[in-house]
Amino acid sequence: MTTSPWPLTATDSGGVLSIGGLPVTELAEEFGTPLWVLDEADLRDRCRAYREAFPGVDVGYASKAWCAVGILRIVAEEGLSVDVASAGELHTAHVAGVPMERVIFHGNNKSVAEIEMAAELGVGRVVADSMAELDRLEAVGAARGHVFDIWVRVTPGIDAHTHEYVRTGHDDSKFGFTLSLGLADEAVRHALGLEHVRLVGAHAHVGSQIFGTDAFVANAEVMVGALARWRDEHGLVLGELNLGGGMGIRYTHEDHPVQPDRYGKATLEAVAEACDRHGHPRPKLFIEPGRAIVGPATVTLYEVGTVKPLPGLTTWVSVDGGMSDNIRPALYDAEHEVRLASRASEAAPVTVDVVGKHCESGDIVRERASLPGDVAPGDLLAVAATGAYTASMASNYNRLPRPAAIVVADGAARLLQRRETLDDVVARDVL
Ligand code: LLP
Repeated sequence: MTTSPWPLTATDSGGVLSIGGLPVTELAEEFGTPLWVLDEADLRDRCRAYREAFPGVDVGYASKAWCAVGILRIVAEEGLSVDVASAGELHTAHVAGVPMERVIFHGNNKSVAEIEMAAELGVGRVVADSMAELDRLEAVGAARGHVFDIWVRVTPGIDAHTHEYVRTGHDDSKFGFTLSLGLADEAVRHALGLEHVRLVGAHAHVGSQIFGTDAFVANAEVMVGALARWRDEHGLVLGELNLGGGMGIRYTHEDHPVQPDRYGKATLEAVAEACDRHGHPRPKLFIEPGRAIVGPATVTLYEVGTVKPLPGLTTWVSVDGGMSDNIRPALYDAEHEVRLASRASEAAPVTVDVVGKHCESGDIVRERASLPGDVAPGDLLAVAATGAYTASMASNYNRLPRPAAIVVADGAARLLQRRETLDDVVARDVL
C-alpha cells in the first residue's frame, strides 16, 4: 500500500500526472473539470491491506466516506462489509447488491421509516444508539414479526486527539450510551428485556483521522472490560465487538499516520490481552474504516481560471470548483497536498493561496500552497487524497453542478458518477 498522499498508480511524465495509466490532461479533456479521479488499484489495495492487517476480523467500509454504487460494489468484491448511517446509504448498498447480512446500520437518530427499511431489507446488524431507539426497534420488530440483531453503541470515554468535530468517544458525545454514566449498562439491561431485539455485541468508535494506536488500544481495553462486566452481571457473553474506524491517512507529506499493520497488531494484541485478563472468550471483531479505504485513492482535478497577485500580500489562484466539492478545508482547516498536474515548469516555486469560485472568503482549497511561479489560467491542479468526505459532503452552493467522478484502471476510465447539469440544479424547484 502506498504511503504517499498520491494514489498507487500515480506517475509523472514530463510534469504531467497520470493515474491508472491515463494522463490527467486527457481525463480533463474527456470528462471536464472539476473531476474526481479514483484509482481502482489503490482502492482495492487498501481493502486488501486492511483485511491482511486485521486477520480474522470482519472489515467494513464506512460508506459515509463516499457512498456511491460503484464504490460499494468494488469494496464488497474485496470482501468488505458495509456500514451505512441513513436510508440513503442503505438504499445505495441495496442498489449496489451488497449482501444485506453484511450491512451494519448506524445513526444516532434513525427514524421509524429507516428502522422499517432495515427490517424489510434484512440488514445484518443495527447499532442501537439510544433508549428511545431500542423501544422503536422493539415496536417495529413486534409489528412486523422481525427480530433485530443489534449492537449497543458505547461511548467509551476515550479522547482521541483529533479535530473536535470528528471526535466521538468522549463522554459528552451525541453518539451512543455513555459508559461512565452507567447508560451502556442500562441499555444492556433494557435490551435484554426486549423480545424483538437480540443483543449480539457492542460497538465503539472513538473518532476519525487518528494517527497513533493509543486510542484504539484504550478502546479495546475499555470495551472488553465492559463485555466482561456484562458477563458477570447478566451471565451474558456477547460474541461480537466492533471497534469502529478512524484510522488516519496522509493528506500531505507532513502527515505521518501509522500503517494498517500497526493499527491491526496493536488492536488485536490489546483485545487478546484484555480477554485473557478478564477470562473472557475472544469476541468476533469488526472494524469499519472509511477514510483509510477511499481517501488516498482519489485526486480532484481542477482547472485554474484566475491568478491574482497582490504584491507583498499573497497570490490568489482560483480554480473551477471549491467548497462545494471539498468542504474539508473550510470545516476542519484540513490541508490537502496540491500540485501542478498538466505540464512541467522551470519556474521557481512561489507560495500561493488556492481558492475556489464560491462567494465566500472561507472557500479555500489549500492555503499557502507551493506552486511554480508561472502557474497560469488553463493549468490543471491536482489535489491529493480527496476520496473521503468530499463527494459525500458536496453541495450545490452557488448552484454549481456537482462534478463528475471516474474510476481509472489499466489505461481505461469509467464514469462512476456523472456530472450534474444546470437542469439538475433546478430539477427540484417545483414552484
Ligand atoms: N464508524 C462510525 C460509527 C463513524 O461515525 C465513522 C465516521 C466511521 C466509522 C469512519 O471513520 P473514518 O475511518 O472514515 O475516519 N467528515 C469528516 C469525518 C467525519 C467522520 C464521521 N464518522 C472529515 O472529513 O474529516
